[in-house]
Amino acid sequence: MCGGRVSAPIVATVDAVGLAGPRFTALPPLALYVHIPWCLRKCPYCDFNSHEARGDVPESSYVDALFADLEYALPSIWGRKIVSVFIGGGTPSLFSAAAIDRLLAGIRARLPVLPDAEVTLEANPGTFERAKFAGYLGAGVNRLSLGVQSFDARQLAALGRVHDAEEARRAADSALAIFGNVNFDLMYALPRQSVAEAEADVAAALAFAPPHLSFYHLTLEPNTLFHRYPPPLPDDETAADIEDAVAARLDGAGYVHYETSAHARRGRECRHNLNYWQFGDYLGIGAGAHSKLSFPDRIVRQARYRQPKQYFEQVAAGAPVQENADVSRDDVGFEFMLNALRLTAGVPATLFAERTGHPLALVRRPLVEAVARGLVESDPTTIRPTALGRRFLNDLQALFLNDAPSRRARDRVPDGVPMRRT
Ligand SMILES: C[S@@+](CC[C@H](N)C(=O)[O-])C[C@H]1O[C@@H](n2cnc3c(N)ncnc32)[C@H](O)[C@@H]1O
Ligand code: SF4
Repeated sequence: MCGGRVSAPIVATVDAVGLAGPRFTALPPLALYVHIPWCLRKCPYCDFNSHEARGDVPESSYVDALFADLEYALPSIWGRKIVSVFIGGGTPSLFSAAAIDRLLAGIRARLPVLPDAEVTLEANPGTFERAKFAGYLGAGVNRLSLGVQSFDARQLAALGRVHDAEEARRAADSALAIFGNVNFDLMYALPRQSVAEAEADVAAALAFAPPHLSFYHLTLEPNTLFHRYPPPLPDDETAADIEDAVAARLDGAGYVHYETSAHARRGRECRHNLNYWQFGDYLGIGAGAHSKLSFPDRIVRQARYRQPKQYFEQVAAGAPVQENADVSRDDVGFEFMLNALRLTAGVPATLFAERTGHPLALVRRPLVEAVARGLVESDPTTIRPTALGRRFLNDLQALFLNDAPSRRARDRVPDGVPMRRT
């Protein structure tokens, strides 16, 4: 299912667990993330870099800015092929099909995108038009991720969504008819939600038989309206019961729970997100987008300016990158585990050296402890969380934290994918 990956062997040559920096003789697969920072309205629970579009979105000048941004970045990814593209937001479906067509054509003109690359676009049912979806397909989008959130009218209103249940159903029908390869984003543990209501929501989603379903536990994020004025959420016990009921329903319907929040028909796992979890590389362009890029002797993380206005100005000045820092030897073990331990099947143990440029011995102590505590399987050929490790994922990941974490965990993760614990 991961056809399209760069197939060169990836080998890290490292001295002992000395003070050496990383050493790569081949680099990880490289994905492209494109951020569109506008929405019709800001949802009260959302802390993504999204801004209310007042009037028309400046799609043409923004696509120009994305091209300039990409051109500045080209020297740092010279010669590398793009294995997947994800156009996320915000609400990319605010853009016309013509703008997405120009965007994808311009990307392909500047970068070698593999012919079978997965190309995902995030859409909000509130911006749905059938002709527009068909236009995205014609532009080269081959996977649609639909922000349904819930099929329950009361919940959609409580979440402040711009769409109602009927619009969600119409968008879901068309998305499946046009793309086939579709994800629904849904959230659970919603205001006053009971286990029975959550199960009814899953059943409503399953009626469409989408190939992929993402289920996120609604969390109260700082700097959101819900954080300031919290809605009446289910207590922890009910939330845990909902989580179990949702997982059991999806399992019973034949979906593989392959990642903390992601369920898919076999072979329909999201390749772009899998690259994040497997600690692959990604270039993020657009306002506030994050990148993780490996070089023969270092790994770099970047963040672009977040505010659209400032982003435009900085692109015009030739400097869209606001933050640029090497991933330190102290942080890289935690960063790898933060991602890899979300995967139910885990990763081969050899992937650690391949993707971090350091030997697995770098994390030997916390790994031994995790195995001793029953949080990671004892199989030496894989790094795989046990059922207990998956339930207490935050605690498991925290074992790999070094003493002086410089940033919050959320700041080290890719765009477009909520990292919350389910
Ligand atoms: C970046 S949003 C993009 C989707 C699109 N803008 C939409 O909402 O229709 C990706 C997903 O993150 C999830 N999400 C956003 N805020 C969340 C929160 N506070 N707790 C849990 N999930 C959240 C939602 O399911 C959302 O669809
Ligand atoms: S949840 Fe989606 S539509 Fe709502 S503000 Fe966030 S990015 Fe925009």
